[in-house]
Amino acid sequence: MLVHSIEEVREEVYSWKKEGLSIGLVPTMGALHEGHLSLIKKAKATCDKVIVSDFVNPIQFGPSEDFDKYPRTLEADVKLCSNEGVDIVFAPSANEMYGEGNRLSNDTLTYVCPPFFYVNKLCGKTRTGHFDGVCTVVLKLFNIVQPNYAFFGQKDAQQVIIIKKMVKDLNVPIKIIQCPIVREESGLALSSRNKYLSESGKKDALVLSRILNNIKSCYKKGIKDVSALKETAYDFLNDKHDLEYLEIVDRESLEDKITADDNSIALIACRVENVRLIDNIYLSEV
Ligand code: PAF
Repeated sequence: MLVHSIEEVREEVYSWKKEGLSIGLVPTMGALHEGHLSLIKKAKATCDKVIVSDFVNPIQFGPSEDFDKYPRTLEADVKLCSNEGVDIVFAPSANEMYGEGNRLSNDTLTYVCPPFFYVNKLCGKTRTGHFDGVCTVVLKLFNIVQPNYAFFGQKDAQQVIIIKKMVKDLNVPIKIIQCPIVREESGLALSSRNKYLSESGKKDALVLSRILNNIKSCYKKGIKDVSALKETAYDFLNDKHDLEYLEIVDRESLEDKITADDNSIALIACRVENVRLIDNIYLSEV
């Protein structure tokens, strides 16, 4: 069922809660692909009722980012959700979420600002305010839907870590479930932004997963020095790739590492055809 108003979602949720049913929320910005479907499938397997939110959140985009051109495919998203047995697709307008006139600055809107340590690195370094926007909308969605579980993809590893931190620090009674990255057969991590790439751009984009896989195999062969592991990336990069960052940090705390260990995660952001792509890999399966 497609629902646009907060009031209507609340009514449904209220009746489910009265029946003692568990609720799973899959927050998305739409343009659904197999990665999102894997979250939905996990939610269906875990919960009695599943709500997918489909909202391109204006406050997590910077002024020079792709908010206007971000793919919006609501009709197709609703079909995919209905095939998966989703109970509600919640697709509010910006007015519905933030009020008439969209007063979207922190002069007039209460924001959730995650700690500087977590945002002053990786994606947060170039996307100023991005994680404030993410945490604000996610907490609003949590308050609207009041789910028992919420499902996020590991592809946005920094995002999941920050959301887990928010939930812990603010005592939000919701269990965060992190689901593995879904990839094309080629190794390219699925992303709504892959739609911007040409066929040759998609091939060039394989550099992200190749660099990460190579770092993991070097680590497994015994190279632990983070600088040496990062150096290996230069064998793969050429002038089609604009590397924004490549970091190896702790997979839970995001603390920098000098020496990689089994709790390390390697993360990369790189522009291909001016499309900003991200990917990551755990150096060990533990
Ligand atoms: O990962 C996303 O698609 C978005 O950041 C999220 C969590 C739906 C918040 O808008």
